[in-house]
Amino acid sequence: MRNLFLMLAIASAPLGPVLAQDGSVPYPDGYRAWHHVKSMVILPGHPLEDPFAGVHHIYANDKALAGLERNRYEDGAVLVFDLLDSVRSEHAVEEGERKLVGVMAYDAQRYADTGGWGFEGFAGNSRTERLVGDGGQSCFACHASQEDRQYVFTRPRD
Ligand code: HEC
Repeated sequence: MRNLFLMLAIASAPLGPVLAQDGSVPYPDGYRAWHHVKSMVILPGHPLEDPFAGVHHIYANDKALAGLERNRYEDGAVLVFDLLDSVRSEHAVEEGERKLVGVMAYDAQRYADTGGWGFEGFAGNSRTERLVGDGGQSCFACHASQEDRQYVFTRPRD
């Protein structure tokens, strides 16, 4: 019996580090203080309506900003797609509730299957409720069209 416990302990020992380094994309803490790159409003009828209708802002950390300018990203670059509902008011479109926080985190080795980018979405204001269940393949399928820009749609601007 004691041996059995010992075997179980040994068998499960490597799980700790494996779980800690499972490749999941971390929530981008503090991204609202990063560089704002651009904004866009997607209205009903746009091809990206489902699920991206609303007002979105794109943020880049320092490494991602440098990557945008050089068109070459290094490990640690993170881009955020912050999506809020759009609310029509008189002759204006305003921000509503947050719908999701989309993240692209660059790590050439870890995310080699999806062009070096780890893709994740966090629902609403949650830092833990993850929306991407296929390792980012569905996100990457669309971003693949931007191969000459290392899978990033956004262009740098002044
Ligand atoms: C059908 C196409 C499509 C799919 C699927 C898609 N995206 Fe995007 N994504 C775009 C487009 C287009 C932009 C540029 C938006 C803009 O110009 O403001 C973009 C921009 C982004 C950006 C900002 C960096 C960049 O490439 O411009 C992030 C981060 C992002 N998407 C994350 C995701 C995540 C995470 C998923 C999967 C949950 C996903 N995307 C799925 C089309 C797509």
